[in-house]
Amino acid sequence: MKKILVTGALGQIGSELVPKLREVYGIDNVIATDIKQEKQFWLTQSGPYETLDVTNAQAMFDIAKKHQVDTFIHLAALLSATAEAKPLFAWNLNMGGLVNALETAKELQCQFFTPSSIGAFGPSTPKDNTPQVTIQRPTTMYGVNKVSGELLCDYFNLKFGLDTRGVRFPGLISYVAPPGGGTTDYAVEIFYEALRRGQYTSYISQGTYMDMMYMPDALNAIIKLMEADPTKLIHRNAYNVTAISAQPEDFAAEIKKHIPHFKMNYKVDPVRQAIADSWPNSIDPTAAINEWGFSRNYNLEKLTSDMLEKLQQKLRQDVG
Ligand code: SER
Repeated sequence: MKKILVTGALGQIGSELVPKLREVYGIDNVIATDIKQEKQFWLTQSGPYETLDVTNAQAMFDIAKKHQVDTFIHLAALLSATAEAKPLFAWNLNMGGLVNALETAKELQCQFFTPSSIGAFGPSTPKDNTPQVTIQRPTTMYGVNKVSGELLCDYFNLKFGLDTRGVRFPGLISYVAPPGGGTTDYAVEIFYEALRRGQYTSYISQGTYMDMMYMPDALNAIIKLMEADPTKLIHRNAYNVTAISAQPEDFAAEIKKHIPHFKMNYKVDPVRQAIADSWPNSIDPTAAINEWGFSRNYNLEKLTSDMLEKLQQKLRQDVG
């Protein structure tokens, strides 16, 4: 990774991955791109930035060629709940963007990363400790996109020798940029509401387990996988990674240790609950551990104290 292009740079992952990559690889070596052009995003002002609609193949190619990138990190995509509300739009954006990104990477001989998700699994997948290689028959448009994406990345690797790599991310939790439109978003919202109001109404029911991960672990996983010895990578697209398997009441109990008056309520959203019910309770990251040394630093306890501390500072700054 010497010169890196990131799509969806202003999204949940990109907002933190771009600064981290700039820290490690140098400011001028990370080209951030996003469909948004607003100047209020500090990222658009703090290093190379280009406005890019990922469905525009020519524009994407021109930007990548202009900056002579050797690494392509494709993040631009709709999350699960939004994709379910607009399935055709999601197909066109998620798959169209991915095909354009893979073609650009192929033409310019780039190393390639794109995230898959726990959404790539479905109701017929074994629910507990879900294996790396297993049944993948998702029932959501997001899941259909993710499985198709995994297969397409494998195809570009097999057919054209493109160095494609990916992980199946669980719900990602961070205090920087909100996710927006995902099923696991409750695990971010709960922290904002705990600090703002001392209570939260969860749209996911009690007893619903899903995998989660704190953003610093996710960023380390991306960099570690991209830096890994290619001869060790058997599964490539895409590796199960996880840090925490939790249900909403586990977050509530952990938050209560810091905010004793915190109160949790439930008002289940049937659409997002159905998506959550179709996903695993916990996934098995053994292949990622064995093939490129995946590890996590944050369990639920550590994540909760760090998240509350950092978010409190952020909310104070926003007010002040
Ligand atoms: N966090 C994502 C979502 O909920 C899952 O990959 O859509």
